[in-house]
Amino acid sequence: MAYRSIDELCEELHQKREEAQSGGGAKSVEKQKAKGKGTARERIEKLVDPGTFVELDEFVRHRCTNFGLEKTKYYTDGVVTGWGLVEGRKVYVYSQDFTVLGGSLGEMHAAKICKVMDLALSTGCPVVGINDSGGARIQEAVDSLNGYGDIFYRNTISSGVVPQLSVITGPTAGGAVYSPALTDYIFMVEGTGIMHITGPAVIKAVTGEEVTSEELGGSMTHNTKSGNAHFTARTEDECFAQVRKLLGYLPLNNLEGAPVKETADDPLREDMELRNIVPTNPNKGYDMRDVLRRVLDDGDFFEVQELWARNILTGYGRVGGRVVGIIANQANYLAGCLDINASDKASRFIRHCDAFNIPIVTFVDVPGYLPGTEQEFGGIIRHGAKMLYAYSEATVPLVTVVVRKAYGGAYLGMCSKALGADVVLAWPQAEIAVMGAEGAANIVFRREIEASDDSTATRSRKIEEYREAFATPYVAAERGLVDRVILPEATRGEIWKSLVGNETKRSLRPKRKHSVMPH
Ligand code: HXC
Repeated sequence: MAYRSIDELCEELHQKREEAQSGGGAKSVEKQKAKGKGTARERIEKLVDPGTFVELDEFVRHRCTNFGLEKTKYYTDGVVTGWGLVEGRKVYVYSQDFTVLGGSLGEMHAAKICKVMDLALSTGCPVVGINDSGGARIQEAVDSLNGYGDIFYRNTISSGVVPQLSVITGPTAGGAVYSPALTDYIFMVEGTGIMHITGPAVIKAVTGEEVTSEELGGSMTHNTKSGNAHFTARTEDECFAQVRKLLGYLPLNNLEGAPVKETADDPLREDMELRNIVPTNPNKGYDMRDVLRRVLDDGDFFEVQELWARNILTGYGRVGGRVVGIIANQANYLAGCLDINASDKASRFIRHCDAFNIPIVTFVDVPGYLPGTEQEFGGIIRHGAKMLYAYSEATVPLVTVVVRKAYGGAYLGMCSKALGADVVLAWPQAEIAVMGAEGAANIVFRREIEASDDSTATRSRKIEEYREAFATPYVAAERGLVDRVILPEATRGEIWKSLVGNETKRSLRPKRKHSVMPH
């Protein structure tokens, strides 16, 4: 028997690798490019540090023989998987290849994804899933469906253990959208990324509504209307830059701390401009981002879900090199009130920070909950409860800065002392009260105002009296509900000291299987 030479065998390996690298062939790649989309491998190269990608399972192929599928067998089976480094830190990745059978998911395709998810979990590393797929591979029937189930299960088991990020760079339809929805963050590329449960044709047939695919499930829809997505990008380059940046704020897993970044920005730096940004008149608007940028290292606030529930801001930054999660009322939008979407947005972000050991700094300037039947019928009670729940449940250091209004239930909901804030700081213009001075005076002094000869003057006097007495931080400070009343310019240093003071925080809770969160 003649054995082939080692050179011949190596040549064969080269050829097979070349075949695996070529995806669905030049024609399909051309089609992909014509849609303005990158290939699965190009996307991985944009995600990881140059030359660090290590591929797994490149020779995997499906074993389906239904409907002649045995005649179209491609290496990789439509998904490129492996690991690489992002800023020198290990990340597992899978990238669906639309040029191979439309990136559709069958038994082996799913098994490859599950393998990297298992490795990410056992090694404590984030997983980034790049989605571009026609969904369940129709020829593989229940094997495809089961494959999705295997992925959903792993998404859930990995939740809160390793960060999971989903990047939507093409179609993601039907039940396939539930894997991204089970991950921590969804990034979408405008014009090509699409997510929906039922597509335009089915909707037209069932409800008669006419809608385009982009209107139904494009990036802007999910970033502004549904709240399903967290980031939007005009191009794939921009999208992967966002993913890399976000990974820089996250620990590799729940047993580690977030990466500390050296900075020349003095943690005790004062900024007098903070006195001018927030008007003392509680009815005037301003952009809370201007406060955040002046407080955080190098003015860098990395916002999450910037375009949805804009009355509350969520995002990451650093103080003295340490990562913090920021929750802040945005006075410029709906006066910064809390509503259903703001509660959902903030509570999920709080839980994410808590799961991954990221201290939370909450900036408060909140008039209350948005009134109206739409909110009540929509379930503001159960949605609003999520915020109380998420803060109370959190065991990471919690620092609260009341910069102006903190009224009523919303005062409690924005990480008050009672919900577990370790340090509550307040600016001199803070008003911590059941409600604003005007509303309060109208109720408490109603009879007196009505009985007076000059009710307008009496009302003004009473409002002023109430404001003097209660619309201050000092009533709360007298009870220890505010730890320190601070000068606005000293906010950065005060936060830094509060974080240092609480970095060894331990919080013991009674044992339970798991909690039952409001839904
Ligand atoms: C098998 C598929 C496929 C699929 C696409 N292809 N989707 N093959 N199973 N689900 C194949 C096409 O036949 C085609 O093969 C190639 O991929 C490229 O597809 P095109 O249609 O040419 O691409 P395009 O015009 O860009 O349209 C993309 C598309 C469309 C909108 C995604 O392909 C489409 O509607 N596909 C079906 C989507 C779908 O109904 N999927 C099932 C969803 S249900 P050739 O050989 O011609 O190049 C689901 C349930 C999950 O996913 C449940 C989880 C619980």
